[in-house]
Amino acid sequence: MQTIELLGKKFVTSIPREEIEREVKRVAGEINNDYKGKRPLLLGVLNGAFMFAADLMRNLDIECEISFVKMSSYQGTITTGAVREVIGLNESIEGRDVIVIEDIVDTGLTMQRMLEQLSAHNPSSINIASLFLKPARLKVPVDVKYSAFTISDRFIVGYGLDYDGLGRNLPDIYDAAEE
Ligand code: IMP
Repeated sequence: MQTIELLGKKFVTSIPREEIEREVKRVAGEINNDYKGKRPLLLGVLNGAFMFAADLMRNLDIECEISFVKMSSYQGTITTGAVREVIGLNESIEGRDVIVIEDIVDTGLTMQRMLEQLSAHNPSSINIASLFLKPARLKVPVDVKYSAFTISDRFIVGYGLDYDGLGRNLPDIYDAAEE
């Protein structure tokens, strides 16, 4: 077990890169099957999903395109709270088969909002591919069609996921160590 420290917090290795590679290939295989004869548009959600999106696409052998979006956050009034909008959607997704590529679905609120907004552009279909799911934390029902790992309620970093901006470059996944 390898321990690292990010901003004074300790993390220990939990999922090695070989296992990530294997599961990403499995998910890619499912997408290759399901989208045969179609030309899906992968929509990677920045920043966390960049590495997963790259490795997933590398393993697709169907015709496919990729683009990236981000969720903004700004403070609304006290009653509306933080309202998040999809930003950076430059192409039309009308009539397209969209696959949203996310790093992790935690409470599900980000994906719920993303789906609401993307659906308004009338895509032909939308599915979610998420590297991780934390079912114990879900606050709203979100249908995640493709996922590489289902994990317990714990904080992870690596392979695109960060702790306050750091750790995205780590090739393996690390768990926050018990204090
Ligand atoms: P949700 O809206 O609660 O589902 O939040 C999803 C976002 O929270 C992800 O895209 C991540 O940016 C972040 N997040 C949730 N859990 C973790 C974690 O364990 N490590 C790093 N980022 C996380």
